[in-house]
Amino acid sequence: MSRVTLSRYLIEQTRSHNTPADLRFLIEVVARACKEISHAVSKGALGGVLGSMGTENVQGEVQKKLDVMSNEILLEANEWGGHLAGMASEEMDNAYQIPGKYPKGAYLLVFDPLDGSSNIDVNVSVGTIFSVLRCPEQHLSQNDALNEQAFLQPGTKQVAAGYAIYGPQTMLMLTLGDGVKGFTLDRELGSFVLTHDNIRVPETTAEFAINMSNQRHWEAPVKRYVSEMLAGKEGVLGKNYNMRWIASMVADVHRILTRGGIFMYPWDAREPEKPGKLRLMYEANPMSFIIEQAGGASTDGRQRILDIQPNSLHQRVPVFLGSKEEVARVTGYHQE
Ligand code: AHG
Ligand code: MN
Ligand code: MN
Ligand code: MN
Repeated sequence: MSRVTLSRYLIEQTRSHNTPADLRFLIEVVARACKEISHAVSKGALGGVLGSMGTENVQGEVQKKLDVMSNEILLEANEWGGHLAGMASEEMDNAYQIPGKYPKGAYLLVFDPLDGSSNIDVNVSVGTIFSVLRCPEQHLSQNDALNEQAFLQPGTKQVAAGYAIYGPQTMLMLTLGDGVKGFTLDRELGSFVLTHDNIRVPETTAEFAINMSNQRHWEAPVKRYVSEMLAGKEGVLGKNYNMRWIASMVADVHRILTRGGIFMYPWDAREPEKPGKLRLMYEANPMSFIIEQAGGASTDGRQRILDIQPNSLHQRVPVFLGSKEEVARVTGYHQE
């Protein structure tokens, strides 16, 4: 069997779909950084990488050592190649400027360097989420600092998105807007190998993912939907549902890509001024792009996430994504 590595897949995409060479390079560099993060994650206590830094990020979360290390790995890997006009991340207050000694390129890279960081110390799957946008013409300048406005584009403008999951296997899931491909890291070869060719999210499901401990703080449509699922076969939905909550979005979304389900992180009344917990640019948009490319759906309860016009880099959003039928149902409840 001839193996299709990530590099070969990208080269073939260039031939068949005119994927630009600098985008191909960008994806390869991100994948290389993810291998490095995977390696650091797998060392755990032996590498002294567990525990927190004692600092907070702009969202007021305590940063884990691996949050900061992963962020640095991604910055260092991507700053010199000439393919980026700038970067932005969950772990940085402001947009990252490409150092003046390097040329700037056409793309913007946005990432959640380590997703699920509350799971690091308990040896449960974590990941890296990334999204690629084109830098708008008017913001492309070799000399001037990049304006944050350049990043504020709706998710429909993403040219690529993906995530790496550091679990029992390290995998890279990728979309260039032409379906979703899954690659598994072959540690002996040192390369990502195509193992999941045409990923589809089943349209129906009987599995949901939500942090149930927040139930009392949810809005009425979410309370209604979850109570209907909990009522099982005897309830209006007429079937028994199973529940999973890993508390790493990458791992929950990965399960949904693999066998279907619905993932929800709704607005809740604990912090009423925040629209939700998850970040639009680093989490919701890339995951929504991937889910839609696999035949699923993604909304904020009221509208398609990919259509939202962002107004700030660290903007948050409620998230309902996964199997089409279920996302349509809970979105419908919000619209009633
Ligand atoms: P991060 O570790 O990047 O800050 O993201 C954590 C997110 C997401 O991965 C997960 O779905 C959610 O937070 C879990 O939240 P709870 O701890 O509230 O369940
Ligand atoms: Mn965080
Ligand atoms: Mn995250
Ligand atoms: Mn994170």
